[in-house]
Amino acid sequence: MGKILVTGGTGYIGSHTVVELQQNGFDVLIVDNLSNSRKEVLTKIADISGTMPDFVELDLRNESAVMNLFKNHSIDAVIHFAASKSVGESVQNPHLYYHNNVGAMLHLIKAMEMHEVKSFVFSSSCTVYGQPDQLPVTEQTPTKPAESPYGNTKKICEDILRDYTKVNASFQAIALRYFNPVGAHESALIGERPSGVPNNLIPYLLETVAGIREKLSVFGDDYSTPDGTAVRDYIHVVDLAKAHVIALQRMLAEKQKSNYEVFNLGSGNGYSVLEIIQAFEKVNDIKVNYEIAPRRAGDIEKIYADTTYANDELGWSAALGIDEMMRTAWAWQKKLSAE
Ligand code: NAD
Ligand code: WQD
Repeated sequence: MGKILVTGGTGYIGSHTVVELQQNGFDVLIVDNLSNSRKEVLTKIADISGTMPDFVELDLRNESAVMNLFKNHSIDAVIHFAASKSVGESVQNPHLYYHNNVGAMLHLIKAMEMHEVKSFVFSSSCTVYGQPDQLPVTEQTPTKPAESPYGNTKKICEDILRDYTKVNASFQAIALRYFNPVGAHESALIGERPSGVPNNLIPYLLETVAGIREKLSVFGDDYSTPDGTAVRDYIHVVDLAKAHVIALQRMLAEKQKSNYEVFNLGSGNGYSVLEIIQAFEKVNDIKVNYEIAPRRAGDIEKIYADTTYANDELGWSAALGIDEMMRTAWAWQKKLSAE
């Protein structure tokens, strides 16, 4: 058997998935341009799994480099994480987002067609739902015109895969719509490491508690939710990583119901920002310095997943709860701060 190509494999979700793939006997080839991750992640992966993954530093926007990659390696399937992921940055620089997120995927599927590689897992996002009219969201909940170029890129990539699989019967794809991935590997050797000022809740909270930021702003306490703060479905990154192995095995065993499938990956539970802060404080026995601030532009009020389809079809469900998410996130941050 050839290798599983993991694009963006030194990134946050990619690195955790590489570990799970290796622990399930897969041979992994990572490509990454290191625009949002570091090469040292490779040795951390090896420390956990005992195996150093193959690595090629490559920018997926470079079409000929992608073609050469497929020429030079025996690749059996692709898990495509590589993308730019900052909603705010995408509003400022839409070209970067369409080029990096849509263009790169087109290069990959073209190379796959030329080299008869037929299995593709795509990192999508709950962002494709916008603010849904009904909760929880199922895979049938209508996708709404996205509220940012970033969100648009995820929707467009899903549309491309749907259209492409319609006319390429031998090509199989699974789009996984992640809700809010948080937490870190139990070893605290890999985790989320944003560069610059974090945009997302948990990274900002961690840096606040670590003393790097002064105060966490809670964006809005006047939403129509039980405590007024916005509600999200947080999912432990290791649970998410395991779902990728299952999705891959499903395609390799040709168990798909159709050659394009979409799954929600969440815990199915909604937690408010204040509930997250309280859970963090309780499980780690440490205070979070925070203040209520105005709503953040573009934020939705609440969203959480109906995970029935993933539970039934993939036989997957989130095993790690909010306490595990907060405990492992803080263990990772403490280790980083001590470096
Ligand atoms: P990340 O930034 O940690 O990982 C992405 C990796 O891709 C990085 O290592 C980066 O260097 C690499 N990369 C980016 N552009 C590249 C290019 N042109 N060529 C080669 N490598 C490139 O992000 P993540 O949180 O691990 O997210 C992984 C995927 O999941 C992304 O597609 C993201 O949009 C999606 N997603 C993330 C979240 C989230 O909240 N983290 C939620 C939903 C979906
Ligand atoms: C979570 C909650 C904030 C920071 C984003 C993308 C989405 C997906 C996941 C990729 C919200 C609140 C945050 C802070 C706060 N990514 N918050 N203070 O916005 O749900 O989703 O990441 O696909 O597409 O939009 O995640 O972590 O930024 O925010 O109060 O300093 O925390 O308002 O309610 P979000 P987040």
